[in-house]
Amino acid sequence: MNITATAAGDWALGDVVVHRMGFGAMRITPNSDRSVAIQVLRRAVELGVNHIDTAAFYRSPGGTLGVGEGEVRYANELIREALAPYPDGLVITTKVGPGEDPERGFHHAATAAELRAQVETNLRQLGVDCLDVVNLRIMKKPGADSIVERFGALADLRGAGLIRQLGISNVRTDHLDEALAIAPVTCVQNSYAIDLRREEDELIRRCAERDIAYVPFFAIAGAQRETGTAPDHSGAVEKVAAQHGASPQQIRLAWTLHQGPNVLAIPGTGNPSHLEENIAAGAIRLSPDELASLG
Ligand SMILES: NC(=O)c1ccc[n+]([C@@H]2O[C@H](COP(=O)([O-])OP(=O)(O)OC[C@H]3O[C@@H](n4cnc5c(N)ncnc54)[C@H](OP(=O)(O)O)[C@@H]3O)[C@@H](O)[C@H]2O)c1
Repeated sequence: MNITATAAGDWALGDVVVHRMGFGAMRITPNSDRSVAIQVLRRAVELGVNHIDTAAFYRSPGGTLGVGEGEVRYANELIREALAPYPDGLVITTKVGPGEDPERGFHHAATAAELRAQVETNLRQLGVDCLDVVNLRIMKKPGADSIVERFGALADLRGAGLIRQLGISNVRTDHLDEALAIAPVTCVQNSYAIDLRREEDELIRRCAERDIAYVPFFAIAGAQRETGTAPDHSGAVEKVAAQHGASPQQIRLAWTLHQGPNVLAIPGTGNPSHLEENIAAGAIRLSPDELASLG
């Protein structure tokens, strides 16, 4: 079988067209063998992936995973090592927003100055003069989570030529309204899967009305979230997988892509065979009956 990301169809992410099957770089840093990460990234692009999601804070915990003391593997640096000079048409989407300190980790919303520093870190690590897409990733704090100031700060950086397009992540519809009043929004990135946060259907619809991409994370991991792969696929997922001779993970990705033309997949893996499996899932077409059975 000819595996290609083009089988998933295309979406115009602002003024650039990407294949709807992309790649999430969060899972490439745990393996202490950096050559595997390089292999996965190069293979993804070989198979047609032209949308990669990343963050400066996707990194291995240095010294705790059996790597040399002090060595930290940053997803952005692996991307640069594997792919620079970047091929034409490759869109790298990164995210900023959580403020971090060494003792408490990600514990506060970044200030405007911190956002600028985070953008500059991404520029440096990726080795570019301008970031393709930057998502403002928020940590929701009830009662005090307006994004006006922070999104405004990123809009200023866009105005200064450091960012081409903006998105928002971990947000509600009111955040989207706030952002749209400030600058164009290219994408919304939230957690969403067959078994996770299905109340998002309304936000997906609102994004579609405005030609905004909805880019779910945890499409495979589902309710297992950061811990990884979902071991408890429902009977319906297992059944549809058997009908297609596919894995449950592939059916989760196919289901994701069937949620709307503006829905893009960014499955994360550090495993070369999982990568091929995931990209192949973009060619799976589910029938209305199958979709109904999946819920
Ligand atoms: N905006 C945000 O706040 C946010 C938060 C989290 C993630 N993200 C982005 O979204 C991307 C996707 O999220 P994610 O990576 O956490 O979750 P995911 O893509 O739903 O699932 C990844 C997990 O599933 C496993 N997996 C992947 N393909 C598989 C396959 N074919 N068969 C079996 N297991 C498979 C991976 O392990 P292996 O490595 O062993 O394959 C990993 O444990 C991330 O990579 C990141 O770029 C964004």
